[in-house]
Amino acid sequence: MSPFSSEKRKNPFQYCQGIDKSLTALMRKIGAAADRNGLQAFLIGGLVRDIFLARDLDLWDIDIVIDSDSASFARALARQFDAKVVIYKAFYTASLFVTRGRRIDLSTFRAETYARPGALPQVRKGDFLQDVQRRDFTINALAIALNKKCFGALIDPGQGYADLKQKRIRVFHDKSFCDDPTRILRAVRFEQRLNFRIERHTLQLLKAALKKRKETRVKAPRYFAEFKKILMEEDPLKPLRRLSHLGGLTFIHDPLQLDIRFIRKVYNHRALTGRWKGLVQPEQRWLFYFLAILKGMPERQVRAIVSRFQLSNEEKKAVLQSAGFSATVAYLNNIQLRPHQVYARLEQLTPVTVLFVRMATRRAVVIRHLERYLDQYRHVKLKVDGNDLKQMGIAAGPKIGVILKELLYEKIDHGLKRRSEEMKAVRKIMEGGKGL
Ligand code: CTP
Repeated sequence: MSPFSSEKRKNPFQYCQGIDKSLTALMRKIGAAADRNGLQAFLIGGLVRDIFLARDLDLWDIDIVIDSDSASFARALARQFDAKVVIYKAFYTASLFVTRGRRIDLSTFRAETYARPGALPQVRKGDFLQDVQRRDFTINALAIALNKKCFGALIDPGQGYADLKQKRIRVFHDKSFCDDPTRILRAVRFEQRLNFRIERHTLQLLKAALKKRKETRVKAPRYFAEFKKILMEEDPLKPLRRLSHLGGLTFIHDPLQLDIRFIRKVYNHRALTGRWKGLVQPEQRWLFYFLAILKGMPERQVRAIVSRFQLSNEEKKAVLQSAGFSATVAYLNNIQLRPHQVYARLEQLTPVTVLFVRMATRRAVVIRHLERYLDQYRHVKLKVDGNDLKQMGIAAGPKIGVILKELLYEKIDHGLKRRSEEMKAVRKIMEGGKGL
């Protein structure tokens, strides 16, 4: 069935049965609970969009709007589903954590006003239309009725269905991007993800908002959070290229020249798909693209960029270490290096940095050192420990750590296999007074 057949439009959940029966069943339950509580409930947002596009559904994130107090309805549902509930009173929203990791966000119909361009919106209770119109794009504002009497009916005041059909990204009103400039990034992300086109007037508004972006008050971390979603897309290259053409990357640094070839190299690199892929969590993958964007910038600049965004300590470390990429490559570009010297240098780096250096260098000697580190050196573990050393008469204290490190280097260089060989090496280290 075509995703836009009239049948589907009449009853999206009917069609949805084939995709996920449990979603339909869950929606019916919520509809019935809404009837019992005498309120109206609608499924809205990205999930509805994706139902009509027959895309993989993100069932972790279900957005429902109601015409009444979301907190009391959330509590009623929590009792019914035996779920955990978190209420955000000031925002008129509540989150319900149901089985299988699903999260249902419930919100009372809301209206928003922006005191200044880019400021966080001031939220108040509103009606259905206001709730729909406050949203970013028409395709994200389709709603499906859940109450029994009209279960499955599509409510589409913004003509979002027609936009889905025409593959168009369109804003509701001319101030949309000024109110919330993070929508610039969202427009590009949805356009490229869905193979849509930002509609002409919307594109004009977007470009005008880009010119004024500096005058708005969007906090850098908020903007970056939306940018990170681009880097986390299945194919971040397309939106990055589009954003770069539009001049939408200057919030990172102005001017910023994207090295798309290098980013593509990172995207396709076997370090992310091959034998080392377990070294980095899938949710950290975006970081490689960010490092690729920053590659070649002076360390001072990178430091300034990083301080503006809210990165975790580990992420910050990876970014700053990767900015020192040339120094790492210069050190490793030496055939004479002993294995333990390679280990000692690379062990201080985050796994993301090590893999990034591997992706970014073409020098055979450096690649050889890096691959040996990844495949061999980092797996070397000692059979003896501090207790063994104490039993050999070494007093507890920092000395033990120094000897163990010395021993590990010895093992990395000479591949000591047996415990007895390690003990012998410890005696040798002590006799030589090395590290003591
Ligand atoms: N929304 C908005 N303006 C924003 C962010 C979100 O209007 N700056 C609205 C949109 O209606 C959107 C909904 O809030 O559909 C939920 O936002 P989010 O979960 O970020 O987006 P999804 O549309 O669910 O997209 P994705 O598929 O990427 O999760």
